[in-house]
Amino acid sequence: MAVTDNSMKDYAIGVFDSGMGGLTAVQELNRILPNENIIYFGDTARIPYGSRSRETILRYASEDVAFLKQHKIKMIIAACGTVSSVAMDDPIVEDMPFTGVIAPAIEAACAATEKKRIGIIGTPATIKSGSYIRAAAETHPDIMIIPQACPLFVHLVENGYTDFGNPVTRLVAEEYLAPIKKEGVDVLILGCTHYPVISDIIGDIMGDGVKLISAGAEAAKSAKRCLTEHDLLSSRKEKGKNTYYVSDSTEMFEENARFFLHEDVHGDVFRSNF
Ligand code: DGL
Repeated sequence: MAVTDNSMKDYAIGVFDSGMGGLTAVQELNRILPNENIIYFGDTARIPYGSRSRETILRYASEDVAFLKQHKIKMIIAACGTVSSVAMDDPIVEDMPFTGVIAPAIEAACAATEKKRIGIIGTPATIKSGSYIRAAAETHPDIMIIPQACPLFVHLVENGYTDFGNPVTRLVAEEYLAPIKKEGVDVLILGCTHYPVISDIIGDIMGDGVKLISAGAEAAKSAKRCLTEHDLLSSRKEKGKNTYYVSDSTEMFEENARFFLHEDVHGDVFRSNF
């Protein structure tokens, strides 16, 4: 761990994802840490990561981290279930505070389940890694985790098939969620940061008795705890600012980002090719 000093308190929090999904973490960061500056990198030119090999995901993630480190940052959040899953065995950040989404989401889900039965949905790479199951086994071996890969969700979300009445997304979601529903879970982890954008459809299919946990939002809460522990919370009195970098079109990003942020993008958006 690098030595931290007081001047680092006002450095930004670095957040990255394969695309726009990580904005679900940014939304929560803005809510719970309004005075922090945030630097976001979305690798929109190379999304999706979730259907790629472990080696490729690790290479992309290392490049994303290296990009964030070119800026003055005090912490990194991998706001991507896929990257967080592969980084469980191969750490990608060792010289500053870091969190992925797996442990924070598992912690929240285990605290919320009464039936001790939790469903987890994610990208193929996330589910194949067994990351959530392994994380739960470490701390809560008595809790059953039921996994399900949802390969089409990221494409539907990135293409704007997100409204509650969308028949295509509903049909796909019904198909994916049926096996988990049958298992009688009372908590479902949205293990990919893209999924909260269609949480109303997912929630409607799962029913009122099932609590949904957003992995991105839980990572944001975990980041707040981590910065508090390291005495790295900003001393800034005014509102912090968000700066976004994407590896593809800034126009497309601004158009779609509001579905993740639930408001228009505030802050500069730049295109960057690493
Ligand atoms: N947001 C990424 C995740 O949380 C999924 C998108 C992708 O497949 O790249 O897993």
